[in-house]
Amino acid sequence: MKKQILITGGTGYIGSHTAVELINEGFDVVIVDNLYNSNAGVVDGIEKITGIRPLLEVFDLCDSVRTNDLFSKFNISAVIHFAAYKAVGESVRMPLEYYRNNLVSLINILDSMKAHGVENLVFSSSCTVYGQPEKLPVTEQSPIQPAVSPYGNTKQIGEEIIRDTTSSSNTINAIALRYFNPIGAHPSGSIGELPTGVPENLVPYITQTAIGLREELKVFGNDYNTPDGSCIRDYLHVSDLAKAHVVAVKRLSDKKNKKAYEVFNLGTGKGVSVFEALKSFEKVTGIKVKYTITGRREGDIEQIWADPSLANKELNWKTGYSLDDCMKTAWEWQKQVTKSNL
Ligand code: UD1
Repeated sequence: MKKQILITGGTGYIGSHTAVELINEGFDVVIVDNLYNSNAGVVDGIEKITGIRPLLEVFDLCDSVRTNDLFSKFNISAVIHFAAYKAVGESVRMPLEYYRNNLVSLINILDSMKAHGVENLVFSSSCTVYGQPEKLPVTEQSPIQPAVSPYGNTKQIGEEIIRDTTSSSNTINAIALRYFNPIGAHPSGSIGELPTGVPENLVPYITQTAIGLREELKVFGNDYNTPDGSCIRDYLHVSDLAKAHVVAVKRLSDKKNKKAYEVFNLGTGKGVSVFEALKSFEKVTGIKVKYTITGRREGDIEQIWADPSLANKELNWKTGYSLDDCMKTAWEWQKQVTKSNL
């Protein structure tokens, strides 16, 4: 039987783009998702782009029996683990749900990997582990700071669980990918980000304001110690990010990894302010976005961007899309979603 790559959270934003890139590279993909924050229709979008419909198993990975059964049913060679809750504010209100969901599912996956001799894991981590760094850009050696939210803490603890598991097991190898800020959508307009309710993230808020779903963008602070006073992030295109997962899976499968547990930053290496992001959107779409400047958002980091040189060198990966391309594809997607009312 052909080996399969298991994508947990594969109908989500980054998971679906990764499914596309894997299928395009000839991999056989199985998706597991509980559809808590996504919908099964995403599989249609993946099929439309690739011509291949990945298998979708719908259940919750906190169910250890069903997780183990999944590993019995398929011939899995690697797992890419995206499935997690990801809203920072919500995690402050519902810490136990976040710890349970994000950590129990990870433990169940690791248990099943051990039980079924599956050796390769790629983990979806975040630059949130660095907090507000003292030195910019951040390298993988930059100190980990105490997490400001339960969500961030689940990423830190998740990394530790994986690190300890790889060092205690002779079989499991893992790569944790620390994402900076993924934005944009697949250039086909067939898949993209589908925030439920009011978006928390900047780019969906911009596109929803531009299309008339939101009254105005609130810029969270213009009094930061940055050139234009707004926060700075490292925005990268989601398809660039997705491609890094393909490279990571190949690195593990080909046993090219240098250690049982490796960590890579994934970003462009360039910091962009909220106002610069907004200007880029307005430039490529010709639409003026109404905004007001409000107070700072609690827990926001003033500025952070990646030093992606380790990923450039070791994974032979770098971003290809420009900020303008990101905004263009985000806008095309927003128009598509609004038209078809997805
Ligand atoms: C946040 C999390 C990150 C998580 C990501 C996933 C923190 C510090 N970071 O990223 O760990 O992986 O969400 O969802 O918690 N902004 C506005 N107005 C808006 C929305 C955002 O001005 O309506 C600004 C923010 O202040 C920030 C920038 O836009 O400066 C980006 O915000 P956002 O897209 O929410 O991403 P992060 O906060 O960087």
